[in-house]
Amino acid sequence: MFDERRSVIIRDGKKLSFDYVPEKLVHREEQMSTLRMLFRPVFEDNRSETAFITGTVGTGKTATVKRFCADMMRYGIEKGIPTDYVLVNCRQRNTENAVILQILRHYDPGHPDRGFSVPEMMRTLRGIIDSKRIKLVIVLDEADILIKRNAVDIIYQLSRFNEENMGSPTSISLILISQEYVLDHLDTASLSTFKRTNVIRFDRYKRDELRDIVKIRADESLFPDRIREDAIDLIADISSEWGDARFAIDLLDKSARKGENKERGEVTAEEVREAKAMIYSVVTETKLMDLDRNQMITLLAISRSIKDMAYVNMGAAEKTYAVVCEEYGEKARQHTQFWTYVKALEKIGLIVTSVRGEADGGRSTYISLPDIPSRVLANKLETLME
Ligand SMILES: Nc1ncnc2c1ncn2[C@@H]1O[C@H](COP(=O)(O)OP(=O)(O)O)[C@@H](O)[C@H]1O
Ligand SMILES: [Mg+2]
Repeated sequence: MFDERRSVIIRDGKKLSFDYVPEKLVHREEQMSTLRMLFRPVFEDNRSETAFITGTVGTGKTATVKRFCADMMRYGIEKGIPTDYVLVNCRQRNTENAVILQILRHYDPGHPDRGFSVPEMMRTLRGIIDSKRIKLVIVLDEADILIKRNAVDIIYQLSRFNEENMGSPTSISLILISQEYVLDHLDTASLSTFKRTNVIRFDRYKRDELRDIVKIRADESLFPDRIREDAIDLIADISSEWGDARFAIDLLDKSARKGENKERGEVTAEEVREAKAMIYSVVTETKLMDLDRNQMITLLAISRSIKDMAYVNMGAAEKTYAVVCEEYGEKARQHTQFWTYVKALEKIGLIVTSVRGEADGGRSTYISLPDIPSRVLANKLETLME
């Protein structure tokens, strides 16, 4: 079913998967350094610490914390300090019982899943941590799920773990990750341990930040020069609407896979549009059917002239427009009229225009097709116009 064939674009597909954690997370240096600052006392003063991380989907929260914890363990090994971390995804383990069970199973994979209360399991955990004399960091990812269900006692218990261990090298530190700022749901007792100052915010990535992330990931996972620069631009443009790196990397991954199946053996803007259409497309048949004939001809001209590029210059599209008009027996309209067709198409959301400075100092308008591969669009329009 999956024929053996030599891949020409993807060099290392694992690096395109969601759970791959890059060695360095660009544009998260500040958050990393805040984490280092917060957790330094765990090693230097035998303290335990807490951090609360918040940000929307795809802002690199999980990846950054995984990177931080892995680096911290590396440090522990170098210094001969027993250090460990456990990451629990509270979407998958959404009860206090399930959370603590996963932490226990990190040390005792055979720990039975029933028959023990949460306090009993907490005592078992304490025994394990004390005997190993370990510095443990527990990460509760997607903790909002627990907090909204008011399953917060475990957070309180874990954050108080050290009260009886003051000064000993053994400690449990906590990192909570949440999409929303949900600390207000915690009662004041646990809030006092969860000092408000230890909140680290992850903002949505900006367009250029997404571009850097995609560029670096492409370098790591693809063969050299197998993706065009304007295809990377387009991925950044599309995903900047949400500021979501997960979406950007998913687009890169799917675009690369689309490219593998084609003769050309490289990723162009066309594969990016195809990948986006695969993920979701706002272009519906009905949207196209509602267009009048002039708008259809204009859109067909744009989709034919853009080919596999990310953008087409207005002038080039207009030249193709004249050709398409002739083909369909229509009189080509003046520039100003063409312009109103283009603007109407933009208003419906079928195209996007942007004005850019040129090398000669002038400015020109560029058109892009954000949602649909140019060939698919051209075919649909041709069928509709018959
Ligand atoms: N700064 C970054 N550099 C490189 N890759 C990143 C960066 N931020 C996020 N990613 C990647 O984007 C994807 C989503 O990130 P993730 O940490 O899961 O987001 P969140 O947990 O905030 O939803 C992951 O594949 C991750 O490797
Ligand atoms: Mg996450």
